[in-house]
Amino acid sequence: MEENKQEKKGTGESSDSLTNRQGHPVTDNQNIRTVGNRGPSTLENYDFIEKVSHFDRERVPERVVHARGAGAHGFFETYGKVGDEPIAKYTRAKLFQEAGKRTPLFVRFSTVAGAMESPETARDPRGFAVKFYTEDGNWDLVGNNLKIFFIRDAMKFPDMIHAFKPDPVSNLSNPERMFDFLSRTPEATHMVTFLFSPWGIPANYRQMQGSGVNTYKWVNKDGDAVLIKYHWEPLKQGIKNLTQKEAEQIQAKNVSHATQDLYEAIKRGDYPEWELCVQIMSDDYHPELDFDPLDDTKLWPTDKFPFLKVGKMVLNKNPENYFNEVEQVAFGTGVLVDGLDFSDDKMLQGRTFSYSDTQRYRVGTNYLQLPINAPKKRVATNQRGGQMSYQVDLAPGQSPHTNYEPSVIGGLKEAEQVGKVHEPHYNDKLVREKIDRTNDFGQAGDTYRSLEDWERDELISNLVDALKVCRPEIQDKMIEYFTNADEDYGRRVKEGVANAMEMRNDTTHTSSAEADEVADKAKQMGH
Ligand code: HEM
Repeated sequence: MEENKQEKKGTGESSDSLTNRQGHPVTDNQNIRTVGNRGPSTLENYDFIEKVSHFDRERVPERVVHARGAGAHGFFETYGKVGDEPIAKYTRAKLFQEAGKRTPLFVRFSTVAGAMESPETARDPRGFAVKFYTEDGNWDLVGNNLKIFFIRDAMKFPDMIHAFKPDPVSNLSNPERMFDFLSRTPEATHMVTFLFSPWGIPANYRQMQGSGVNTYKWVNKDGDAVLIKYHWEPLKQGIKNLTQKEAEQIQAKNVSHATQDLYEAIKRGDYPEWELCVQIMSDDYHPELDFDPLDDTKLWPTDKFPFLKVGKMVLNKNPENYFNEVEQVAFGTGVLVDGLDFSDDKMLQGRTFSYSDTQRYRVGTNYLQLPINAPKKRVATNQRGGQMSYQVDLAPGQSPHTNYEPSVIGGLKEAEQVGKVHEPHYNDKLVREKIDRTNDFGQAGDTYRSLEDWERDELISNLVDALKVCRPEIQDKMIEYFTNADEDYGRRVKEGVANAMEMRNDTTHTSSAEADEVADKAKQMGH
């Protein structure tokens, strides 16, 4: 240490002394250069300009959704089987094959609607995104904690997010915006039932489940595919949700409790673990079901499609730098490896365009060169240039002059196809139509009835709190949807809203009524 700290002759530098990004020693980091010690400053002061102009650019745009998050490194260990069967029967993806094989990974958990520094106690789905650095390149499984979603068509996503985010004029959150959209979106009733129950506020990021939500495919060596749903089940840490009141108590003291919980658990060596399970269905229309297997507003019933264990994930290392890793990490549903495939789930297909598109804008054209996003294997492309390009993906023996293919003078070659390609056959009209088996309320009712009593009480009270600030045509439509799901559900929300409206009318003569309303609305949206 002593030796390291010694001054290098003639430069005034030691191993721990400050430099600028050009490598020049910084000899004064306290004073800008001025004419006299109270005079005007000069503009040629490179150290100052470099420092402040870098600071001016310290942020990239936050994610348009899932802006608030926390991340960690870890590994996935495969069981080599799916349930009791050899996994190779269903997928040839290499990371799953050999029992005990470990694949490094990075996970980012998040809330959805809130901004970068918003409270982590919000009633909101939680993102659960996993990047597996496999020997065949990266695989991203970009999921949420809840197993279903609000909508089943990607066309609706931007509107839905606009309705959930603050008013573009006042920048205030307001549940009426959200329920305005939801009351015209009957397929969301199932997700609303989960979200307004205690399942809408997981206690933290460790004690929650994860799910791929959308339907994917697995492909075996013969090119045969099955439909797949992915689920992450917490192991030793279990599952815990919060009541609205518990969440408010935490939020009053700490808006980062989930980030803190994850970071501190890993720091003290209490590594969270999840088991990866899949549900498998044959790749067809399944006329015997009262829903479409490609509809992400539906659960696949576990009595018919049991959870089959595939492997486990352990998170055992905190990020070294939040921005470089958690902020710049870029997950996408298009990022699959051989043996994994897309299904025709319309949400999945829309999502798959959106992620890399936003990341080229949010992080930059060369976002895949950043260490957190680059695969931990050989990369050899003909992509060159673009903002912040700093390395060329050359294969050994590839001429740096030959950035095209085909070529006989030192260019890259196409890889050999191993395993039969999965080639689904299509023969239908191109249309813009919704699916046939919408069944918007059946599973919402099942979910309502499956909740414990205290969870149902919470659900009703949370819905009433939100709906009481909405206008009657929104309230009535939501009550109609809840009644379609389950009569008791609809009746309880109806009574609750009527009581709340009565109390509201009693107090409207007071001068503070309007202020109460704004406070109520803000409280509901977790702000
Ligand atoms: C993040 C789009 C549906 C889970 C994002 C981002 C976009 C996006 C643009 C920001 C990505 C970034 O800046 O890096 C969409 C679209 C959807 C959709 C267009 C529907 C068509 C879903 C669904 C899920 C989901 C159904 C759950 C399965 C996530 C997660 C993140 C995310 C977890 C955060 C990833 C991270 O931590 O960086 N989404 N999304 N999204 N989305 Fe979606």
